[in-house]
Amino acid sequence: MPETDAAWAALSEAGQAAAARRIADLFAAEPDRLARFGLTAAGLEIDLSKQTWSRADLDVLTALARASGVEAARDRLFAGAVVNASEGRPALHMALRAPDGAGFSAGGTPVSGEVEASRAAMRAFAEAVRSGARRGATGKPFRAVVHIGIGGSDLGPRLIWEALRPVDPQIELRFAANVDPAELALALTGLDPAETMVVTVSKTFTTQETLTNAETARAWLRGALGPAADAHLVAVSAAPDKAQAFGVPADQVFGFWDWVGGRYSIWSAVGLSCAVALGYDVFARMHAGAAALDRHFREAPLERNAPVMLALAHLFNRNGLGRPIRAVVPYAQRLRLFPAFLQQLEMESNGKRVTAQGAPVAHATAASVFGDAGTNGQHAFFQLLHQGTDIIPVDILAVRRGSEGDPAAQAKLLANAVAQAEALMVGRSADDVRAELEAAGRDAAEIEALVPQRTFPGDRPTSFLLLEELDPERLGALIALYEHKTFVEGVIWGINSFDQWGVELGKTLASRVLGELQGGPAGAHDPSTAALIARLKA
Ligand code: F6P
Repeated sequence: MPETDAAWAALSEAGQAAAARRIADLFAAEPDRLARFGLTAAGLEIDLSKQTWSRADLDVLTALARASGVEAARDRLFAGAVVNASEGRPALHMALRAPDGAGFSAGGTPVSGEVEASRAAMRAFAEAVRSGARRGATGKPFRAVVHIGIGGSDLGPRLIWEALRPVDPQIELRFAANVDPAELALALTGLDPAETMVVTVSKTFTTQETLTNAETARAWLRGALGPAADAHLVAVSAAPDKAQAFGVPADQVFGFWDWVGGRYSIWSAVGLSCAVALGYDVFARMHAGAAALDRHFREAPLERNAPVMLALAHLFNRNGLGRPIRAVVPYAQRLRLFPAFLQQLEMESNGKRVTAQGAPVAHATAASVFGDAGTNGQHAFFQLLHQGTDIIPVDILAVRRGSEGDPAAQAKLLANAVAQAEALMVGRSADDVRAELEAAGRDAAEIEALVPQRTFPGDRPTSFLLLEELDPERLGALIALYEHKTFVEGVIWGINSFDQWGVELGKTLASRVLGELQGGPAGAHDPSTAALIARLKA
């Protein structure tokens, strides 16, 4: 039996043995559990001790990671090898955030020089806009940036802005992603075109939603400012010729490279709007935090490697214990969008059913991810987490020092984060509930009716990630942590984490349906689809 098959078989056995285990019992059985399952990396503190796994299970998983070639795959990733085989590309987002002089090569071609030049251009542009040296067509300084993009060209910048934005920014940043015209209409509302820059971000510059919104925003600018409005247009794309053809002045088109995946692109000029609205230094500090995590990922042994350990915790739940869903709950309002960011990162990267070689996968791949900010989520979906029929592991994120507001409220927030992790693990036994009801003087019949309702089974695993504060370095490290953990999972599953063919069919069909909605000839459809199209045309 090849080494990986034996490692997978060992995982399956470990999962079966763990299924009936009480997590809380493991702390007595494993006195060094906290040390073994606790990690620090690039300013992130990670506690994986409230997972169902034992130390022996971790050994099984680490052996699986080794047998799957995680170390060699990581080295190939950093070496700029073609890890995205179906598109024939490296995936070298780490080069974008590496310090100057890092010397990365993509497919054998040196890239760090171009990356550094691009960063210098971004810095110069951001500083010119912020200082007022670069102004709008009427001579007014820019007070607002409207960022247009979708998917990887939207989720990262939106997350960063919400995480790091000043309470009263010098430059307001707004976003429009959806082709639903309502989003752009709301984004433009109240803005003065003479003071507004429109940054269109699209790796391909072919995305229907983004081009539709960019055309509307351009018309809005031109309607107010005439042809001079084009000075307000900025674009970021790996297809700069298309952006210029759209009307963006050549010196306002920022390029990036096909070896940067869309959902890994925040470190490139895709972050330009954030660099303008937050200041380039904030962006550079994010780079530094992510680069520190990159170093950790490259250098730490698998047993102490944060992205690897987090991947293994998630993999134990997915493949050892058969749990297809994971919740992500940041106890930080400023990280409210992190679950949405992770949905693309993890589900677009690892939502695959065939291996990189095209064979059906032998094991379940990406879990579905959902979540919302704590404490809000507690009042929405936590009922199911505590007492539902499925066990849904949770990643809990918390920030010790809040960025603003009442410290007493921050303490309440943290108390909730800690208490939920404890409650999910420990639960509440029937005996406990009964004793409480008896002490409260309830009668026997009432007690027996209430006990099952008020019992919590517990053993809902959590990973707890603590940030001392939500600064740019830690935000950069946090994003890089999940990028690499997603990569590690992909390696173990044997899939290509860097392509996304699954999004293509819907795009093709949407353009066909659009033709029909606009009066073109009817296509061949199933009866339900044909009826819907007819209804929408009526
Ligand atoms: O949803 C598919 C996708 O290709 C994503 O991978 C990407 O981030 C998004 O569309 C936007 O693509 P683009 O940046 O080319 O407009």
